[in-house]
Amino acid sequence: MRVILLGAPGAGKGTQGALLAERHGVERIATGDLLRQAVRRGTPLGQAARQYMDAGELVPDDVILEMVRETVSEEATDGFVLDGFPRTVDQADGLAGMLDELGLSLDGVLVLRVPDDVLIKRLSGRRSCPECNAVYNVYLEPPSVDGVCDECGGELSQRSDDDPETVRHRIQVYNRQTRPLIEYYEESDVPVRYIDGEQPVDRVQAAIEAELIRA
Ligand code: AP5
Repeated sequence: MRVILLGAPGAGKGTQGALLAERHGVERIATGDLLRQAVRRGTPLGQAARQYMDAGELVPDDVILEMVRETVSEEATDGFVLDGFPRTVDQADGLAGMLDELGLSLDGVLVLRVPDDVLIKRLSGRRSCPECNAVYNVYLEPPSVDGVCDECGGELSQRSDDDPETVRHRIQVYNRQTRPLIEYYEESDVPVRYIDGEQPVDRVQAAIEAELIRA
């Protein structure tokens, strides 16, 4: 299975991507997680990316394509769930080139649709584990023990780009730079499926599985 999860910040790409990858035994490739890891480690990539991420802007395409090239090539034959990539038409073209070289194609694009007011509420309550990337929500999906990761016992934290002003800007950036990818894929041979992402997590999961059978 090789699919792209597309959706605005807070639409549930990370949550559903992790579940989907586990269920189907494939890798989840999440560019946001890879970038945050690089920022934490203070690598040159992390130093270059940080200013864009804190401002809610996209990291330049050449940096992203360089970062994912190796990972995608390694995981492509076994399958993957792409979460947060591609995010621009140039990134989508870059991905198509990588898959062409490997003689592979995408099975589908899953678009998670959630209204803006719900996105803002979700992101204000999100807490993540920097150790294992598990995601919670203090209002909607709390951990068993406040501030502690159920998976690995790590200390949960709030992302620096989840303040309301930056969230609103990230949604604008999504509408301007990433939403056009829906049309891009609609005009391609790759099936595009739409999921109501406002439902509870397990219902979204079931809707994704139903659409994958159709794809
Ligand atoms: P990234 O980490 O990819 O962030 P994003 O796309 O803004 O998406 P989020 O992680 O905020 O949301 P999500 O859709 O994964 O939702 P989640 O499942 O966590 O990117 C961060 C930054 O990195 C970008 O701004 C950019 O600077 C840079 N970047 C990354 N990739 C890039 C690229 N390809 N090109 C250029 N720059 C790039 O859920 C959110 C919350 O809601 C959680 O608390 C969760 O528990 C809760 N929730 C989820 N589903 C449900 C549900 N069904 N019901 C109730 N609550 C739910």
